[in-house]
Amino acid sequence: MLIQKYNSYFICLLLLFSLLNVLPAFSQTGSELFMENRCSRCHTIGRGRFVGPDLYNISKKYNKEQVNAWILNPDIIYSQTNKKPFNPGYPPMPQLGITEHNAELITNFLFNNKIQQQKENAGVIEGVLVNESSGKGTEGNDIYLKSFIGDRLTDEKLQITDEEGKFRFKDLSWVNSYSIKIKHEGLEYETAKMVFPPDQGSIDLKLPLFETTDNDSEIFLNLNHQIVSVAEKTVSIAEIYDYENRGNSIYIGKPGDDNLRRTLKFYVPENAINLKFVEGLDNDEIQREKTTVYDSSGFPPGRKRVVLTYEIPLEFGKNLINKDVLTNVSTLLLLVDDQNGMVDVSTLSELEPVTIENKKYKRWSGNNLKSGSNYVITVTNRSLSIKYIDLFPVIIFAVLFLSVFIIGLITRTENKNNVKNLLLRRDEIVKTIITLDEEYKKNSVNESTYKEKRYRLKNSIIEIDKKINED
Ligand code: HEC
Repeated sequence: MLIQKYNSYFICLLLLFSLLNVLPAFSQTGSELFMENRCSRCHTIGRGRFVGPDLYNISKKYNKEQVNAWILNPDIIYSQTNKKPFNPGYPPMPQLGITEHNAELITNFLFNNKIQQQKENAGVIEGVLVNESSGKGTEGNDIYLKSFIGDRLTDEKLQITDEEGKFRFKDLSWVNSYSIKIKHEGLEYETAKMVFPPDQGSIDLKLPLFETTDNDSEIFLNLNHQIVSVAEKTVSIAEIYDYENRGNSIYIGKPGDDNLRRTLKFYVPENAINLKFVEGLDNDEIQREKTTVYDSSGFPPGRKRVVLTYEIPLEFGKNLINKDVLTNVSTLLLLVDDQNGMVDVSTLSELEPVTIENKKYKRWSGNNLKSGSNYVITVTNRSLSIKYIDLFPVIIFAVLFLSVFIIGLITRTENKNNVKNLLLRRDEIVKTIITLDEEYKKNSVNESTYKEKRYRLKNSIIEIDKKINED
């Protein structure tokens, strides 16, 4: 599994090397255009029939104008000759959308090249495998040649490098594409795909081979730039790391608890969301643990630029974004897009602001920061309080309105209850008067007591009536 993980990385790495080796061969403009405009996917020059006819003797068959017509628009030929396809046994040639200028250059190339007619399968891919630590060829290493038609793998041949580290694959078909795969110390390298240029019968390669090391003494972080922009609810941070492996071995790190190797590491705050590696690392090859993100891919000699982005959600008030330095760094630079004066950075020194593309950035920097040191970015979020201030009169008004309404409601219910009670009392007093009258008729009370009681009761009723009318 580890080997697979390394694989994609080295494909990219060796792509660069093989391009460097193969590209100078396309120095002739006509030849270059012949490759770039896909002619070579269907035609050879002097190497036999392919999808279309061999264009070796084309100047004997057509004049320049006619060849130009084929290149610009084969339908011109088809309508002139009333034959489609024109050459028996071939499909028609599609129109390719090539400019007149390029068509002319390709035509001149087809008429004026010095390409020799060749045997059909006579291509050669050869080269040397060089150990980058010693600068010498490596003997006895397995080299695989993979052959493709289109994207389909059609063949894989194995050779072992000789005492000078050399290898040579011959009798190769002109029309296939090829890549070279190397296995070394459990790592797999593979070059980008190559094809034979029309005027070149062999491809010569110099392939670098690196030893591996788990010692990080040659790994340096030259620079860490961070661009911090504050939005209403989040802080977006983009970070650029410029790493350098100054040794001559691939740095593969040491395995963690999960047995996956850990190479480069990056500090990312625990509450960071939407973490993305934009350049330099594969999002599938990283492991994130709390505040550290580890890479597991090997780091060959040379430089490596890593770009990552993430966001931190903002709370109301002060937000502290803690940043630990995990690898000694020569230059740390923070560019802060801060229109509202919300950001402050502790420990680092503040520089003059700069204007980049009409935007003003505050700057903080640190030199030769040691691993283990740290700094804090403080973002004060006042956007929420501003909203409250705007709403303040509305809130006060609402509170006042509500309290008046509630008090009114309470008094009204109280009054209602009062009247109800008073009426009940009145009823009771009336009943008492009736009973008193009956008792007097039966002579159960003497006259003076009766008069005195009745007078008091009547007064109570008058009092109650007064109260009811008041409410
Ligand atoms: C997709 C495949 C394809 C591509 C790409 C292609 N051709 Fe062709 N070409 C053909 C085929 C097939 C024929 C034969 C068609 C016919 O006879 O009607 C042909 C015919 C020709 C002929 C006439 C050959 C003869 O002997 O009569 C010329 C010249 C030619 N192509 C040049 C080019 C050039 C130059 C390019 C690149 C700019 C190009 N072709 C790209 C397929 C292709």
